[in-house]
Amino acid sequence: MNKAIEVLIDEQKIKHRVKELAEQIKKDYETKPLVIVGVLIGATIFLADLIRNIDMDVALDFVDISSYRDNTVSGELVFDKELTTNIKDKDILVVEDIIDTGKTMTHLIEYLNKKGAKTVKVCTLLSKPSRRISQVKIDYIGFEIEDKFVVGYGMDYAEKYRNLQYVGYIN
Ligand code: IMP
Ligand code: MG
Repeated sequence: MNKAIEVLIDEQKIKHRVKELAEQIKKDYETKPLVIVGVLIGATIFLADLIRNIDMDVALDFVDISSYRDNTVSGELVFDKELTTNIKDKDILVVEDIIDTGKTMTHLIEYLNKKGAKTVKVCTLLSKPSRRISQVKIDYIGFEIEDKFVVGYGMDYAEKYRNLQYVGYIN
């Protein structure tokens, strides 16, 4: 199945970095109730590991905004799943797998602010800074990577490879 996948970030490196991010998040939010908003589907594996290393109460919700459909106005977000909880006056931490052009995250932050969030911060496992079109402030970054299409640890290519323990790229 995985013959053509080259390892970019191995399991140990991911584990170590996820712990560091979780500790930083705990320090930053210690006294505030935190709502974590995961972006389906890609962020689920990262999110599951991350929150189990955050030693404090966190509430969880998810959005699914995986694609801009062809028939939408450019830049419009299409939700396959909206928030379930009321986030008014809450401190929100968005957890994403990868920030590429930044368009998705820019629109998601706008949406969360419109819903009345008190604060919105962003945590992403990966960032491809060279691809950025929409400048977005990222508060917690696992790894910056070059412009490669990556899979594994939640991320897919045509719904495959999400269950790899590592982040790799298709060679
Ligand atoms: P953006 O709006 O261009 O920042 O797109 C971000 C979304 O595109 C991410 O949430 C991923 O779902 C997807 N994406 C971007 N680059 C990759 C990649 O290298 N592998 C898998 N998914 C990616
Ligand atoms: Mg995504």
